[in-house]
Amino acid sequence: MADPVHHGAVPGPGLLLSLEGGEGAGKSTVLGALRARLEARGHLVLSTREPGGTPAGEAIRELLLDPAQALRPQAELLLMFAARAQLVEAVVEPALARGEVVLSDRFTDASFAYQGGGRGLPMAVIAELERVFVRRSPDFTLLLDLDVELGLARARARGGPADRIESEQRAFFERVRAAYRARAQAEPERIVVIDARPSAEAVAAAACAALEAFLDRRGAPA
Ligand SMILES: Nc1ncnc2c1ncn2[C@@H]1O[C@H](COP(=O)(O)OP(=O)(O)OP(=O)(O)O)[C@@H](O)[C@H]1O
Ligand SMILES: [Mg+2]
Repeated sequence: MADPVHHGAVPGPGLLLSLEGGEGAGKSTVLGALRARLEARGHLVLSTREPGGTPAGEAIRELLLDPAQALRPQAELLLMFAARAQLVEAVVEPALARGEVVLSDRFTDASFAYQGGGRGLPMAVIAELERVFVRRSPDFTLLLDLDVELGLARARARGGPADRIESEQRAFFERVRAAYRARAQAEPERIVVIDARPSAEAVAAAACAALEAFLDRRGAPA
């Protein structure tokens, strides 16, 4: 496929980092610790989330999470990529070009896990959408891995009504988890698996240690 939307953007000098994992794994909880660690090393950090991160993206998020919407898997996939394309063009690429570190609560790996693993849509189609509309994978990804029931219990304990995705069946989340783990196995350099069962403090410490190891490996300023 040609790249009609490619504006000739070269990857900027910044870094794109993502946090992944199932429902309630603790992504949003560890994000602040990672951000603090990056800032302590002198990085300018832009944190964001998917789906969302832009006004249009947040509106798409509402639609995606609304339990009243009977979205077909194909529509769900394209809405995820619509929000992501907006985020990449409007936020991620400019920040990377400025040399900033973008820290995203979920990114394209989530589409491989949820729409690919969970919904059963072809991974090759998702890979093509990524190639054309996202144009890069994260430089480094932390996968918070947790037993499905435990994650759902944590998410439920947070309170509030279950969103459209949280209302899925257990088998769906098992497929999501398996797809995430398969991706980590296929790309062990980029995706580091963190055991999300320990306390929030211990998980944050493990996540920070893995991030520091990555930064040291690539010779970033200490
Ligand atoms: N390691 C932990 N041990 C126990 N509880 C935790 C831990 N990490 C987070 N929590 C709690 O579990 C709930 C879910 O955590 P959090 O919102 O960070 O998960 P998430 O991965 O961002 O979930 P979602 O996929 O729904 O966005 C929160 O109430 C949080 O305080
Ligand atoms: Mg969250």
